[in-house]
Amino acid sequence: MNINTDEILTNDNHLIQSFANLDGLKQTNARTAIVSAKGGYVTDSEGNELIDGIGGLWCVNVGHRRKEIIDAITKQLNTLDYYSTFYNFTHPMAAELSKKIALLAPGNLNRVHFGNSGSVANDSAVRMLHHYYNRLGKPKKKKILSRVGAYHGSTHLAMAMTTPAYSDGWDVTENLVHHLHSPYSYREAGDMSEEEFLSFLVKDMIDKINDLGAENIAAFIAEPIMGAGGIIVPPEGYHKKMREITQENEIMYIADEVVTAFGRLGHMFSSEDKYNMIPDIICTAKGLTSGYQPLSATIISDEIYEVISEPGAYFLHGMTYSGHPAASAAALANIDILEREKIPQKVQKTGKLFEDLLRGLDDLDIVGEVRGSHFMMGIEFVKNKNTKEAYSDELAIGLKIANECQKRGLIARALGNILILSPTLILNEVEIRKIETILRESITETSKNLKNKL
Ligand SMILES: Cc1ncc(COP(=O)(O)O)c(C=O)c1O
Repeated sequence: MNINTDEILTNDNHLIQSFANLDGLKQTNARTAIVSAKGGYVTDSEGNELIDGIGGLWCVNVGHRRKEIIDAITKQLNTLDYYSTFYNFTHPMAAELSKKIALLAPGNLNRVHFGNSGSVANDSAVRMLHHYYNRLGKPKKKKILSRVGAYHGSTHLAMAMTTPAYSDGWDVTENLVHHLHSPYSYREAGDMSEEEFLSFLVKDMIDKINDLGAENIAAFIAEPIMGAGGIIVPPEGYHKKMREITQENEIMYIADEVVTAFGRLGHMFSSEDKYNMIPDIICTAKGLTSGYQPLSATIISDEIYEVISEPGAYFLHGMTYSGHPAASAAALANIDILEREKIPQKVQKTGKLFEDLLRGLDDLDIVGEVRGSHFMMGIEFVKNKNTKEAYSDELAIGLKIANECQKRGLIARALGNILILSPTLILNEVEIRKIETILRESITETSKNLKNKL
């Protein structure tokens, strides 16, 4: 393939990038064209090889261009390119994958509906629950509890469940979703201890339930660790406690494991294995196929399935590509690699090393907090470590550091004053240490440049 950056970028003038400052992208050199990838690395159109420090978009868990997955997709397309899972139809791959997911998912989460994105998986969960409560004769039980700082996707409903901060200039569905306090300890806990902050969050949840009435609330939705909200790790015991409260109040718990499943935190699913609780629904996507094909899954409990499949019920929901044969084949081959190569188990060591090394960056003068778990990490930068004074948005500190990283061979993702790292899960110790070195140099260089300007 003849790769010419100018030609790509001229063609690209017609492409609308997602979550982008579209005006800013009009400037020269604002865009990076990635043209190929292998293992933990990608190559840009200028021939630079870069460590993929964000795993595509927290999704390429088993690494890029794995032959087994590509072969499985090709084989499937040569056998059955497409058929739907609508009406009474099924096909071998979607059937086998649903069985596999049911085996891997905790508790009695045994029924799987497929979609093609994390947003759709979350929308599907809410639509199914609304239908479920209608069938139970509880048509008022519809409201959803989410949290400030959450990210659940970008379809209309998923965005309504996302943090209100993302609605600037964009409409969201009103009155359906109510946002609880963010479990963002670094900025929200003040002088509270971890236990006190947990009690504060629990009280916020109970107050909200009392205020809205449990009879009007369908579900609580939560990411185990908030991702796009800035890698927010809740206080110890938070999910288990929230689970208890939802059970006491007959509110369903939707765990948004779009990012946290399939090895990123060292387990296939983290709800039970890491957080010691079993939700009513798990939504997942990304690492399900390692990004080789668009596929998501909404995994529901037997209890919910029983009600929505009783005589007289009709499942009026689905997408043309729900359980696409090639996507299902990709997921099966991907899960096979995760199991055969024991990737989640390895992440418990390599991901921990990554976490520990990154935590060591908090000796740098502009690093306020390093947080996260295993291969899901965030670094928050501050002007003053003691007061936690933030840099102004105009300084775009995260972006400056991400640009320094890219110059040194690492792609990282800037999110305001936070830098996010979510690499492929196959990195070895040398590569992990290299990421830490690049981060240290890039942060130090940016901090020096900022001081020179003062
Ligand atoms: C936790 C979480 N949920 C949902 C989504 C939405 O997934 P998608 O972009 O595939 O619609 C994302 C995307 O980053 C996510 O991080």
